[in-house]
Amino acid sequence: MAIVLISPVLDLPQIYTKPSGTDILRALDLLTIKPRSFATTPHEPAKRRSVQSAGISRYLTSIISSPLSWLDSDELREAVWDAAGARLSERSGRAAMRAMTRIFSIPSSTGEEFTLTLHEPSITADNLGMKTWVSSYLLSRRLHSILDATPQLIPSESTAPKNNRTLRALELGSGTGLVGMSFAALHGKTASIHLTDLPEIVPNLAHNVALNVELLTRTAATVTTGILDWSFTPDKPPTHEEQYDLILAADSLYSPNHPKWLTNAIDQWLSRGLDARVIVEMPLRDAYLPQIEEFRQRMANLGLAVVEEGEEVGYDDWETADGGAVEVRCWWAIWGWSEKL
Ligand SMILES: C[S@@+](CC[C@H](N)C(=O)[O-])C[C@H]1O[C@@H](n2cnc3c(N)ncnc32)[C@H](O)[C@@H]1O
Repeated sequence: MAIVLISPVLDLPQIYTKPSGTDILRALDLLTIKPRSFATTPHEPAKRRSVQSAGISRYLTSIISSPLSWLDSDELREAVWDAAGARLSERSGRAAMRAMTRIFSIPSSTGEEFTLTLHEPSITADNLGMKTWVSSYLLSRRLHSILDATPQLIPSESTAPKNNRTLRALELGSGTGLVGMSFAALHGKTASIHLTDLPEIVPNLAHNVALNVELLTRTAATVTTGILDWSFTPDKPPTHEEQYDLILAADSLYSPNHPKWLTNAIDQWLSRGLDARVIVEMPLRDAYLPQIEEFRQRMANLGLAVVEEGEEVGYDDWETADGGAVEVRCWWAIWGWSEKL
């Protein structure tokens, strides 16, 4: 049976009519929900053929529960069940998605954009760092303007190596590495950055650094990766030489312990130097507003003050089953030691 496409609605080949494997696979392909770009505006129309969302899950379930006995081979049956299962999990949200590799364009102060390729394995609620989140995309895109406006973060050949050190930067909770690698590519050889996360996230983070080795080599950036758990306090505190001039963090406040742990890590690893800075960007999701408030309070208790802050709006990269965009308001802030401001 042929798939009947009556634009803009797709009529699905019904299982009781015993459609061919090719027809079912073609229909399942048209039902794919793809990640939207973070940059997409909610007014941009979805580029896929529209289908009536009501009943799709029931349709997919009818395929999975059918023996598909009229199809020619076990391979074809497996392919159809796999595709139907994938479409069903896409409709359960990003957390149920399979692995994907994505390309992000990041502007630089010359007006040109560079691209970073990031692998995102499938994720569960326990390993959110396998995905790239909207606030890291927004922060990466505005990083060049923050760096341009913060001269102490751009050591030139003449100013930086006062003590023969390039700017040392640390990213906490790097996830897939978008912010840290954007910083590295923008800064080039005048800075080094250490991208860190929990043990289960670091292998993919290191893989992503390897994926972008050509860009990072071209810009002469020094990027390393490693494990850094914010809740851990080493017996011997880091020395001044081991501390960092700049700490970056995006979307890192989403559990009651995070404000305490994140500020614990900042306290240990941020240099007490005059120009030391912390740059954060966090989504203002209702459930986590108390964590943001507590984070502000704890930063102030450490002696850090906001140098500059603002809000901006992005869109989750995951559209709803009916193609809608989810707006996410994000807060960004730059902090420095208050007695030195
Ligand atoms: C929501 S993800 C954000 C990832 C990335 N910054 C982004 O915005 O795309 C939060 C990240 O914080 C990491 N994380 C959570 N708790 C942590 C801890 N105690 N120590 C270190 N990293 C942690 C997670 O593993 C995850 O990579």
